[in-house]
Amino acid sequence: MDIILPAIIGYLLGAIPFGLVITKMAGLGDIRAVGSGNIGATNVLRTGRKDLALATLLLDGGKGAIAVFIAVTLGWRPEIAGAAAFLGHCFPVWLKFKGGKGVATFMGTLFALHFIAGIFAGAIWLSVAFILRYSSLSALIAAAATPFVLFALGQPGSAVAALFMTILIFIRHKANIARLLSGSEPKIGTKKTATI
Ligand code: G3P
Repeated sequence: MDIILPAIIGYLLGAIPFGLVITKMAGLGDIRAVGSGNIGATNVLRTGRKDLALATLLLDGGKGAIAVFIAVTLGWRPEIAGAAAFLGHCFPVWLKFKGGKGVATFMGTLFALHFIAGIFAGAIWLSVAFILRYSSLSALIAAAATPFVLFALGQPGSAVAALFMTILIFIRHKANIARLLSGSEPKIGTKKTATI
């Protein structure tokens, strides 16, 4: 039960597509028809609405953190709840399993699992974003470093959960990696109302 319940609760929380809901409520139409087609904060930012992008970031991150906190409170396995929220975000039942790339939910989960590891990953994301201005590349580098950081901090269980999420983040960023390699990945701040 300490595995099944956090998996179900985490998945259901993670499956709430906040980026899609928020942009629809704001009258911006379907975010999946904009930019990269992703439902995450980076793509919401391409609509020019910084407030909605920030809200998406906080809510997508928050659902991962809340899943972990619920599990901790009820004595369940927190890394299972966080990984399940991440899976819910990437493969939401409500969107025929076509969800986001998982970065914000990964970060929220990470902050709740181990705050210091979250600070490390957040600092890596911010540094790469500040220097190179690619959201996807920042996410890929931060995600790649996280399992090592958690392992070094003596958190093998969370490191394995993070490794699983990191592999999925790389798979979900296949199109971004191709665009980064061809030089066509848009930088942070580029408005793009048509699809990339
Ligand atoms: O967090 C998602 C980001 O890494 C990439 O988003 O919209 O550029 O594919 P996007």
